[in-house]
Amino acid sequence: MMRIGVLASGRGSNFQAILDGIREKQIDGEVVALVVDSPEAGAIARAQAAGIPYFVVERKDFAGKAEMDGRIVEILEGKRADLVVLAGYMRIVGKELLGKFEGRMINIHPSLLPSFPGLDAQKQAFGHGAKVSGCTVHFVDGGTDTGPIIEQVPVYIGDCRDAHEVAERILPYEHKAMRTVVGNFSKGKYVVEGRRVRYEGGL
Ligand code: GRF
Repeated sequence: MMRIGVLASGRGSNFQAILDGIREKQIDGEVVALVVDSPEAGAIARAQAAGIPYFVVERKDFAGKAEMDGRIVEILEGKRADLVVLAGYMRIVGKELLGKFEGRMINIHPSLLPSFPGLDAQKQAFGHGAKVSGCTVHFVDGGTDTGPIIEQVPVYIGDCRDAHEVAERILPYEHKAMRTVVGNFSKGKYVVEGRRVRYEGGL
């Protein structure tokens, strides 16, 4: 059974999507740890409700980013995580953390990369006047939202009146993509050739 570590910073609806996928047997795995970078993260209540160990790792408690990432590595390795999912985690992953999990660390981003990387992707898309945006699940590499793309879902946003409506419209598709990709990881493998990713079902 695949052991999943989740990093989150906010309300945790993508984390919840993984929990729902596990409950509905779409994902053959278990979340062995939730790591949040703030005690205010709504994701904590979701972990508590599901009886999942959670760890609050706050930047202010560490001398530097490297030490903070070192603590996260300690937690994830201690729980023997096979896959690490950034589910609305708003920090850049440092080389200590990436070095340990590159190739088995994924992120969900609320735009069709390479368009609109970085923060406030939904606001960027709305402000640009894009008619179609969406979400991307990708491997995490040393850049910002630059890793090989695993899955993308297009979403029409041409009639949205503001960036909030764009975010609300894309979010359910993020959850669906998250469940599909994590489920695939639990039942097969993704092969990366250069920038291209293909799925090989069945372990
Ligand atoms: C999601 O839109 C995600 O794509 C972005 O931040 C939001 C997090 O939402 N990185 P949640 O915490 O998973 O509800």
